Amino acid sequence: MKKNYRTIKLSISAALAGLVMAGFTSCGKKDANSPGVEFMPDMYRSPSLEYYQVHTVDGDTINNAMLPVKGSVARGFIPYAYANTPEGYEQAGLNLHNPLSASDKEQWEKDGEVLYGKFCVHCHGATGAGDGKVGAKLPGPPPAYSGPLKNLPEGKIFHSITYGKNSMGSHAGQLTQEERWKLVYFVQKLQGPKTAGTDSTKVAAAPAATVTPSH
Ligand code: HEC
Repeated sequence: MKKNYRTIKLSISAALAGLVMAGFTSCGKKDANSPGVEFMPDMYRSPSLEYYQVHTVDGDTINNAMLPVKGSVARGFIPYAYANTPEGYEQAGLNLHNPLSASDKEQWEKDGEVLYGKFCVHCHGATGAGDGKVGAKLPGPPPAYSGPLKNLPEGKIFHSITYGKNSMGSHAGQLTQEERWKLVYFVQKLQGPKTAGTDSTKVAAAPAATVTPSH
């Protein structure tokens, strides 16, 4: 028992002596930038992993924040089939229609009006005349819905809300597709009854649609 106690005492002293030595060695380095002896260096030097890469650390494979597999679709997300090009715009005008049932139009218009008050009114103005406080300051204020945009088809309204147009930014990040369609109903209310059967904003002959939206 006594012997054991002595052994413990001895090893503690040896360990202490070791530490003191390590201390001296670390101070005695010639290179002023050397960190000296590091006690448990793992704690200060965690491996720095680049994102979106496969790493091997201590024999383990780590997939660091990998991007989803190409073509993955988030649950509940409906991809939008029309490209952000003049052709995509024209195709949307011809083929894209509001999936929200017209029989509940009044409800959609009401919901749309609330959204309009939050996201659009400051540029487009309460009646859609393009006289919102922010809109009036833009180099080209928004045209009136009941003026030049009177016959803008629903597909184009949706397309422009989705991608934005010139000084109007994209609203796809703030509004779900359903919310954008509700806004389409409200914008149509502000447009008033159409004066022409055709789209007066059509700029070029649109090629036949190659895609069908997945609504
Ligand atoms: C920063 C100001 C701004 C905001 C916010 C804004 N718009 Fe616009 N909007 C514009 C301008 C400017 C235009 C005219 C773009 C052009 O044709 O050059 C425009 C055009 C439009 C058009 C016509 C698009 C077309 O195809 O010709 C529609 C429809 C429209 N906006 C709807 C909305 C709706 C709905 C919202 C709210 C979700 C909204 N805007 C928010 C500035 C804005």
